[in-house]
Amino acid sequence: MSRLRAEHLYKVFGRRSDQAVARLEAGTDREELRAQGTTAAVIDASFEVEEGHIFVVMGLSGSGKSTLLRMLNGLLEPTAGRVLYDGDDLTALRPRELREVRAKKISMVFQHFALFPHRSVLENAGYGLEVQGVPREERERRATEALELAGLKGWEKSWPDELSGGMQQRVGLARALATDADLLLMDESFSALDPLIRRDMQDQLLELQKTLKKTIVFITHDLNEAMRLGDRIAVMRDGRIVQIGTAEDILVRPATDYVASFIQDVDRSRVLTAGSIMEDAKTDDSAVQDDASTVTAETPIAELFTPFSTSEDAMIVTDDDGTPVGVIDRERLLAALAEEPHVESPGSPGNPEGPGSSGASEPGAAGTDTGDTSKDAGVTARA
Ligand SMILES: Nc1ncnc2c1ncn2[C@@H]1O[C@H](COP(=O)(O)OP(=O)(O)OP(=O)(O)O)[C@@H](O)[C@H]1O
Ligand SMILES: [Mg+2]
Repeated sequence: MSRLRAEHLYKVFGRRSDQAVARLEAGTDREELRAQGTTAAVIDASFEVEEGHIFVVMGLSGSGKSTLLRMLNGLLEPTAGRVLYDGDDLTALRPRELREVRAKKISMVFQHFALFPHRSVLENAGYGLEVQGVPREERERRATEALELAGLKGWEKSWPDELSGGMQQRVGLARALATDADLLLMDESFSALDPLIRRDMQDQLLELQKTLKKTIVFITHDLNEAMRLGDRIAVMRDGRIVQIGTAEDILVRPATDYVASFIQDVDRSRVLTAGSIMEDAKTDDSAVQDDASTVTAETPIAELFTPFSTSEDAMIVTDDDGTPVGVIDRERLLAALAEEPHVESPGSPGNPEGPGSSGASEPGAAGTDTGDTSKDAGVTARA
């Protein structure tokens, strides 16, 4: 079941926002509104997040990611559209009810650690519970557990400034985990960290997620991070979601030239999996040796190079239960890497979600601006 659902969300800043929505619906473009002093920050965003999934929203600076996220927890009221959480319309709640939902069910982790300097690590981790009015003893117990989950056991009594940036960010994560909220909204939560620590945090989040199974919306402008973390990824451009799909969907079937230019620098071997490039087991089992090695369907193909460097034999791909589901030989592996992604035409099956189904395809984007955007994407992704 989907936990969170956004339906045709719009956020327009500036004058006559309602009118602006009508005009956007009628096809007026964002730049035209901008010229009149109105910013369409989010335009017709629709998507669903499944329970236990990490849904990543990816896009360059200014594309509307934070605005979208703030509408998801009611910090910003949508100009149009609805946010449904467990089927309840957040946008229809009274301020008090909304505060209640926000305090108990939704937690936010920000880009900058947002810790209180004069509170201990433990007090910082328990802050969300304090806001909820949870008594001290229980608060400390739960904050201690959350700190342990976040890898900070033993640091409870320290002050924030005694911790490295990565550790401070983990206190932020612990604070979110301590509250039991099962919807986590993370806005560029790892972006301020240096690359190794950032990767560490990504691993830790994925590891935690295996047991906690929170529903997470994770914002990033880094495509590699998006691809590592996201069960599904929404790519935003200029306020619109231009594609929603798995990392593989986006890599193999980019919906627009813009997305294609964005993914140019992604390491395909880490995103594509054995399951996505294998050949059906039934059609070609003659080539498989009895003692062939096996890999699971989820294995990134980067991990297949070593075995293929020492053996010519095809490999068997299995599902989680060990049942063979396909085979891969060396040629197939190389062909998968060499393949150029091709842009699907609008409305083709590569983009099943469609924006209800209007927002996620971007018919006007093709062709004209590829050069510029790829440059853009490169610069910002590294920022
Ligand atoms: N309170 C506001 N008033 C007016 N315009 C705003 C406001 N908040 C955001 N905007 C505008 O909305 C657009 C989207 O901003 P947003 O912060 O959502 O982008 P973002 O994708 O999160 O960018 P970044 O990666 O830099 O954080 C920008 O053009 C921004 O200037
Ligand atoms: Mg932002």
